[in-house]
Amino acid sequence: MARRRFRLALCTGGGDCPGLNAAIRGVVKNARGTHDMEVVGVLDGLTGLMHTPPKTRALDIPDVEGILAKGGTILGTSNQGSPFRDAASGKRALDAITKAIRAQKIDALIVIGGDGTQLMARSLSTAGIPVVGIPKTIDNDLVGSDQTIGFATAVEIASEAGARLLTSADAHDRIMVLEVMGRDAGHIALHAALACGAQIALIPEIDFDYALLAERVARRGTLGRHAMLAVVAEGAKARGEAASWLEAANGAKVLGGIGQQVARELHLRTGIDARAAVLGHVQRGGEPNVEDRLLAMRLACAAVDLIAAGDHGSIVGVRAGKVIKIPYAKVRDQRRGVDLKGELMHAAEASGISFGRTHVYRGLI
Ligand code: F6P
Repeated sequence: MARRRFRLALCTGGGDCPGLNAAIRGVVKNARGTHDMEVVGVLDGLTGLMHTPPKTRALDIPDVEGILAKGGTILGTSNQGSPFRDAASGKRALDAITKAIRAQKIDALIVIGGDGTQLMARSLSTAGIPVVGIPKTIDNDLVGSDQTIGFATAVEIASEAGARLLTSADAHDRIMVLEVMGRDAGHIALHAALACGAQIALIPEIDFDYALLAERVARRGTLGRHAMLAVVAEGAKARGEAASWLEAANGAKVLGGIGQQVARELHLRTGIDARAAVLGHVQRGGEPNVEDRLLAMRLACAAVDLIAAGDHGSIVGVRAGKVIKIPYAKVRDQRRGVDLKGELMHAAEASGISFGRTHVYRGLI
């Protein structure tokens, strides 16, 4: 009798980011080509397994040809809340997913997702389902991994936008403010500010002081010019104030609006003209850069190899340049912020980037 092939299921969950398709391709190529597994794609995130019938499609090597550099995800995704938010709905979700996994004869699952999706995957792993996670999020805030898929491209897009805004600021001798994503973490803002030559970076990890920012602007004015760029993380907030939220088209509360507030306040305090630009989902769409493609291929390969070795129950990540495992048992509902004592923060402040906190920098630009 012919041996039944190992059936590996794969899904992408949470907000999209560049590099998801590269990771899907990496999983399918290794699972099919090297380990002779069958691969089942679950559509629209883990919720695809809670659907009746489950939303799945077979995936073979020809299905992933040409998707390495394609934005989005061929499997679809969803980020509208977790079915594991409370005990009752969590139990319903777990029952439905377990039933689907049994009915589809799925032997193991690879979950590509950010912190929310990985917490759901942790629930599955705790319940005994063989799961391996692959971390992705432009926010780069997953605890345990130095980098997540999508971050490098988001930084590149934000840096390019910042560089463009700087030439416009220069032309008009005004302040430009670029609001970037990142939720409660300032990784995108910090990296982009350094990479594009911004004078100000505002991040959620530091409550900034408008008076200090105005001083920084005034100091630059002593050079006889005012052109400046401030890169502001969407979750940044002034000392004593709350983060800024907006209402999305569907009524959901989303972080946003701080860029405009900073532009207005800097103008009020210094008299210098200021404009704000919001980069938004541009950071999440389109082609992954080379760094994200490489990360996606490495992590996808590692995830499949673990499953082939019967070693599941962890997320694969990178630390100090090496692929590592983060056991689901150690995954908590926590996010990784910018290391305020880290080398990148030092490089930023040492080169005169103001975070709106007290810091001695004698240069004028
Ligand atoms: O977590 C990724 C992220 O892009 C955050 O940076 C941002 O706050 C959020 O998702 C936006 O989500 P949505 O696509 O639901 O607007």
